[in-house]
Amino acid sequence: MTEGKKSDLTGDYLKLARIALSGRIQDVQLMLHRTAKRYRDSDGVLADSLTTLLHESPTPASPLRKQAEIPLPVDLDSRLHLLRVETEPAIDHEPIFAPEVAAAFDQIVAERRNAASLSRASLQPTRSALFVGPPGVGKTMAARWLARELKRPLLILDLAAVMSSLLGRTGGNLRHVLDYAKSINCVLLLDELDAIAKRRDDQGEIGELKRLVTVLIQQIDDWPPSGILLGATNHPSLLDPAIWRRFETHIAFPLPDSAAIAQFLAETLAPIFPHTAAWTGPLAVAFAGKSFSDIERELTAARRYAAINDAPLDDRLAILAGSQVTDKAGRIAVAAALVDQGLVSQRKARELTGVARDTIRSRTVPKRKMRRHSD
Ligand SMILES: Nc1ncnc2c1ncn2[C@@H]1O[C@H](COP(=O)(O)OP(=O)(O)OP(=O)(O)O)[C@@H](O)[C@H]1O
Ligand SMILES: [Mg+2]
Repeated sequence: MTEGKKSDLTGDYLKLARIALSGRIQDVQLMLHRTAKRYRDSDGVLADSLTTLLHESPTPASPLRKQAEIPLPVDLDSRLHLLRVETEPAIDHEPIFAPEVAAAFDQIVAERRNAASLSRASLQPTRSALFVGPPGVGKTMAARWLARELKRPLLILDLAAVMSSLLGRTGGNLRHVLDYAKSINCVLLLDELDAIAKRRDDQGEIGELKRLVTVLIQQIDDWPPSGILLGATNHPSLLDPAIWRRFETHIAFPLPDSAAIAQFLAETLAPIFPHTAAWTGPLAVAFAGKSFSDIERELTAARRYAAINDAPLDDRLAILAGSQVTDKAGRIAVAAALVDQGLVSQRKARELTGVARDTIRSRTVPKRKMRRHSD
């Protein structure tokens, strides 16, 4: 064996020992797979033996079983569990992703499902992604969705909660949690990543925060390719650039556009409300610029009111639509949409939105013309 090959083998051996000692069985398998490939020409016997071993080795324990065996890390100060564990992540309705967000997730899922093809090309699947966007647009929901698609448990570490535990212990807490997450095959979401940065203005804590950022950076660097590390933030500009850079991909979640709002309304209301089709258009106009969770909250409040007062949901939705927009152009658009759909009279639309009837009349499509359009 030449000196070069020998030192290659020594290097690989040490790397393998390191991974094996950390207990990341899937990474060991990945590494052996690669080694077999690399030595196929120079040492066929070694390559064949490794391939046979890999075929014979038992599949790693189910992530759920393994996870149940390892106790959750607990912050000794608060005795609160630092991690929220969802062994079988469930969502009560499917997320509506903007096209570019959907494309990013399709890619992540496809990479995981085609790990062998990637490995043949000496590539690894994406292991970290940062979700950026305003509140209530589906960042946490997307993490849950991804874990469900990949049939893995979801671990959520709320950094705002970690930060509120005694700061002096936070670095240790964080390391503890990430070590635990690394040991199981999971999706880990670091939620509210900007919580670390938000404390930076407090002079007394600067040193501790620097240590915390260092821990986080080390842990992200050390994250195994078999796991999926996600981060979420509402304030990307507050994030430490070194942390930002470490996420392999950044996914921007926009506020829903009118088509996404209409789809969300249709999916939410259709099962419980027969007049859904007529309402989606006007409500989509009324909710322009709102997040999914704001819309969901308003709809639930309207439904509750209608239910306890035994009142028609239509009346509540009309009030809701009328009260959402404050700018003049928005109010005119809502009034016109309500009248166009035949949901309220021009007089009622004026009452709800404060827009003069003449203005409403000039913006609505005369019924006869509408019929001709649909002929
Ligand atoms: N893209 C979406 N499609 C369908 N429903 C959504 C979507 N985004 C949010 N929702 C609804 O709003 C709720 C809250 O969303 P989620 O917790 O994912 O928001 P977030 O982006 O993580 O917000 P925050 O930044 O406040 O944590 C969800 O449980 C879901 O019911
Ligand atoms: Mg969230």
